[in-house]
Amino acid sequence: MNNTSKICAAGFLLVRADIPKKTPAGQLFVYELHRDVFQSEFEPLHKFYGRVYNDPMVFKCNKERFPDLPRWLRFTQRDPYENGFLYGTPLPQDQGINTIEIFVINKRSYDTFKERLVINVGPAEKQMPYQAEFFIERREIEKVLPADVQEEIRLDIQNLWGTGRLEFVNITSALDRGGRVPLPLPGYFEGVYVKLGSDRPFSKCMLRLETAEHQRECESGGKISGDCSTCTNPINCITWCRSALFDLSKPTPPAPIPTVGSGVLAWGGEFSPPESPPDRDFFPDYIVTIIVPLALVLILCLILAYIMCCRREGVVKRNAKTPDLQLYHHHTIQDNASELRRMAGGDRRTVDRPRQCLQPLLMAEQAMAES
Ligand SMILES: *[C@@H]1O[C@H](CO)[C@@H](O)[C@H](O)[C@H]1NC(C)=O
Repeated sequence: MNNTSKICAAGFLLVRADIPKKTPAGQLFVYELHRDVFQSEFEPLHKFYGRVYNDPMVFKCNKERFPDLPRWLRFTQRDPYENGFLYGTPLPQDQGINTIEIFVINKRSYDTFKERLVINVGPAEKQMPYQAEFFIERREIEKVLPADVQEEIRLDIQNLWGTGRLEFVNITSALDRGGRVPLPLPGYFEGVYVKLGSDRPFSKCMLRLETAEHQRECESGGKISGDCSTCTNPINCITWCRSALFDLSKPTPPAPIPTVGSGVLAWGGEFSPPESPPDRDFFPDYIVTIIVPLALVLILCLILAYIMCCRREGVVKRNAKTPDLQLYHHHTIQDNASELRRMAGGDRRTVDRPRQCLQPLLMAEQAMAES
């Protein structure tokens, strides 16, 4: 693709050729999504101008024509400024072509970019009848997946196991195994389980993990005597009490064969249907839930009716009881109030002029005009 056609395509969904990968079943597969690679896909010309961006990017991964990833594959990315990882362990039944669509979204320019990862899962290459799982307390899954960190951990386990013929079988975050989300403070980590396999038997020291004494020590939480693990980098140290061995070299004992009976059920006697339950008296319940509330409502209605109909005073009765002077006083107040209200609102001209106080003034005015 030359540069002009790249400029034309910028802003549209760019599609690059598929990325083929091959991996055997039963071994860990890790694919790192490098942000800097996609950065140059988004802005191919900026390198010429010496401008280099560090855009936040997010990835959306799914199996082609499916909404989600295959069961064995997982995706993780800590935040948009970190690389993403596709990782997981395919099982023998996952053999075949797995096409993964990866959508990259640039969170600054909102350009998108699509890539296809074609993972060809082949048959298992190595027999690993001896497997061991270790818990690394002070790590997070994204920090363990890069190849160089995996190598550091492998070297530590190599010392423990006494063989270099080790392969990673599985790496899982403790969160996927029921672990707790740690506090967002330095010094708190999610924890990672790593599982390695070999065709060489466990070392003598590792076999101590299977003794009853080891179990007792770990349960009591006291001093651990059998720990022979080493770690060159302190954050890679394993937790001895949360290590486990899986010896797949011994054939698993077959499930006990079910005993075959004669094929005829034993005679259990005549069937007698259960008795019908005893009769229940519902009358007290009826009284409490229906009659008592009804009676209360009736009494309240009667009281209210008495108050409304028999205890009313009436205007005529009240006026007859009031002294005349008081009634007159009351009416003048009422009239004045309504007159004020009429003056305040509506058309002022339709209102009679208040006479009593203006009359002398008007007369004086008239007299002055005549003179
Ligand atoms: C890897 O670990 C995950 C999480 O514990 C589990 O679901 C998966 O089956 C494991 N895969 C293998 C091949 O052991």
